[in-house]
Amino acid sequence: MNEVISLIIKKKELSGISHDVVLKEIIRNINPKLKKLIDEKRFKSGEFKKFVKNVRAQLRRQFGAFNNPNVDRLNLLRKKDYQGLLLSHQSSKERLPYYNEVYSKIFKGIKSVSIIDIGCGFNPLSSKFMKPFIRKYLALDINENDLKIIQEYFDELKINGLTKVFDATNLENYSFDEEFDICFAFKLFEILERTKSHRLTEDIILKIPAKIIAASFSTKTLSGAPMTRKRRIWFEVMSKRLGYKIETFMVPNELFYILSK
Ligand SMILES: C[S@@+](CC[C@H](N)C(=O)[O-])C[C@H]1O[C@@H](n2cnc3c(N)ncnc32)[C@H](O)[C@@H]1O
Repeated sequence: MNEVISLIIKKKELSGISHDVVLKEIIRNINPKLKKLIDEKRFKSGEFKKFVKNVRAQLRRQFGAFNNPNVDRLNLLRKKDYQGLLLSHQSSKERLPYYNEVYSKIFKGIKSVSIIDIGCGFNPLSSKFMKPFIRKYLALDINENDLKIIQEYFDELKINGLTKVFDATNLENYSFDEEFDICFAFKLFEILERTKSHRLTEDIILKIPAKIIAASFSTKTLSGAPMTRKRRIWFEVMSKRLGYKIETFMVPNELFYILSK
């Protein structure tokens, strides 16, 4: 299977993705006929090519669509150009002009904080916009390459930060032996969901080890047009049902919910 994984992630925008996540996607798409083709190494067959195309499309949706593959991130890291790195990821690029506003609304009077950031992208590199003292920052994503950059950033800035390859869709992964003050789940839930039931988001929320959850959603469609219905009523109904108080605010391109008990 390693050969198939390497073949799938040889596209530049997919390099760096955790192999476990690729394997999971392969298993989701495989059937006995494809298994036979793989065993016989018939990688040129139409059916195998179609399978590779489908797996890549799903991984791109989850993973590849946010990073600009033409940016040399290691070079930016070497130059300590953290702003350049924030700009190299679509989500933090869009948020960059609004980070002060976003964090002042999330942290309000909080003086010191521990953070767990799920599907973090390059968001941890925005720590200079956070006013509270960061006691601990746990950054989780499936992008191994980006996590290495974030760890170097934490070390360089002497932030008590840890990075971990973490597949947020695997509910067995959520066994943390500590509670955090706040969890960031920025622009995450909708890319993880594969069905309209939102069951996965609910299961994740129930497992998050934090008192406050700050979740955000894009207010643009994939093609970049503004959404007509920006509010996520399903998320509001679900959070209330789970006993959370909800605060909400918007910045251009993004809608935030702060859930607390
Ligand atoms: C839209 S980006 C948001 C990044 C960041 N939260 C932000 O808003 O700046 C989604 C992120 O989720 C990560 N991701 C995708 N699938 C994931 C999974 N199954 N588990 C953990 N992270 C995942 C991607 O690698 C990407 O960094």
